[in-house]
Amino acid sequence: MPFRRVHGLQIRSYESCEGWATKREMRWCDACQALAVDLEPKFIRGDELMEFFGAVQTGFGRTVLDENDEYPGHLITADRTFAVRDGGTIVSTASSYAFDVTVPGGAQLPMAAVSMVTVHPTHRRRGVLRRVMDAQLDDVARRGEPLAGLTASEASIYERFGYGTATFTTNWELESDYARVQGVGDDGGRVRLVDADTAASVAHDVYSRASRRVGELTRPAEWWPRLFAPRSKGARFFTAVHEGPDHVADAFARYTLENHWPDGVAADVLHVRELQAVTPEAEAAMWRYLFGIDLVGTISAVDRPVDDPLRWRLPDPRRMRVRQLRDHLWVRVVDIAASLAGRTYAADDALVFELIDDFRPENSGCWLIDGGPQGAACSRTDRAADLSLSAPDLGALYLGGVPVSTLAAAGRVRELTTSAIARADRMFLVHPSPWCTTHF
Ligand SMILES: CC(C)(COP(=O)(O)OP(=O)(O)OC[C@H]1O[C@@H](n2cnc3c(N)ncnc32)[C@H](O)[C@@H]1OP(=O)(O)O)[C@@H](O)C(=O)NCCC(=O)NCCS
Repeated sequence: MPFRRVHGLQIRSYESCEGWATKREMRWCDACQALAVDLEPKFIRGDELMEFFGAVQTGFGRTVLDENDEYPGHLITADRTFAVRDGGTIVSTASSYAFDVTVPGGAQLPMAAVSMVTVHPTHRRRGVLRRVMDAQLDDVARRGEPLAGLTASEASIYERFGYGTATFTTNWELESDYARVQGVGDDGGRVRLVDADTAASVAHDVYSRASRRVGELTRPAEWWPRLFAPRSKGARFFTAVHEGPDHVADAFARYTLENHWPDGVAADVLHVRELQAVTPEAEAAMWRYLFGIDLVGTISAVDRPVDDPLRWRLPDPRRMRVRQLRDHLWVRVVDIAASLAGRTYAADDALVFELIDDFRPENSGCWLIDGGPQGAACSRTDRAADLSLSAPDLGALYLGGVPVSTLAAAGRVRELTTSAIARADRMFLVHPSPWCTTHF
């Protein structure tokens, strides 16, 4: 019987299944609809990238792939890219970028940023994704990358593979009548609107100097030109750059204006796509500029932190209406010891947790974290556990944005020794809250 980990623990029932049939070039089991092993995820060759991107488009329900479509051929490499073929046709895709993520304490750990995950509608719900996830996490482990991360099209898919929601973002709206930044006057700096080429280099520079929160990702140099490149319809957005009195750029904002003129009254919507700053003062100065743009009725911002300091600068903060609070970065701890020793902890303590990892059972067992603000060690242990949790819970709490006590209150984390949850909260939590603004 050629199955490996298809449908996880149900594998035994397939081994005794006798319903195998051959249909066209694909073999599957009539009884359980699981796929046979010849639909194996394999790395693509470099000359198969365009075919791969075309298959990704199909997986996301898009029909075309032309020169104006965004495909990150400059960022992905064939050796991190999987395809499943049925006969000659790609029916499933997955790749990952080699990024680093900022973890508590400020270290940047390698993270496989998983992307372009699709299974074509012709092959859905037969275990193809499960096999792709399995092959990809094996590859991440082989590369020695301690973490994997992704942004999910649907929040119901990835927990079974050990991913947990680690960062959240908000989208908000503010009527321009209430858009004032209190306590911020002329700082002696200036704001310039720059073209795409300048924007790419200045934004890269500001981003690399920005006071980056836990959860943010490194963006390689190749990331930026494509982000700002004009398309056939013209520049994608305005890029404003703030410079201090010394003329050094310290903030940028990408934004668009959606024109509205109902009954002759100017009521544009200013969409703020991204705002990054090196200091809180530069950030406030950039908001001051954006709030001053004429003809605007509403300001709408996406991907802002859940604890956005801007709220505390507004004269009427209730007017900042949060339209969406949503998950952004999902984290999968692949190498338990390296990941947990790679971050610091807010309080000195030693805690043992029992990990239940159904998808990568080799990770299951008891682990000791002995750490504090200066550093940490993590190893397997025979000591009795203080807490019991599963792999997606570990992913959720790893960056320190999700309290262990919240997961316990939701019945997900079990406390096995007195006060272990409170101790874990004291160790794991970070401020300000983790935040990731990178879409990948
Ligand atoms: C999401 C997608 C990749 C799933 O692929 P698939 O091959 O059908 O998934 P599998 O058959 O391997 O399913 C594995 C498990 O995930 C579950 N699952 C799969 N897709 C799911 C979804 N959208 N919502 C909830 N559960 C889902 C399956 O029920 C199965 O559960 P089980 O482990 O309890 O048996 C595929 O439907 C797809 O390509 N969708 C459109 C593109 C997309 O959203 N990609 C994800 C980008 S982040």
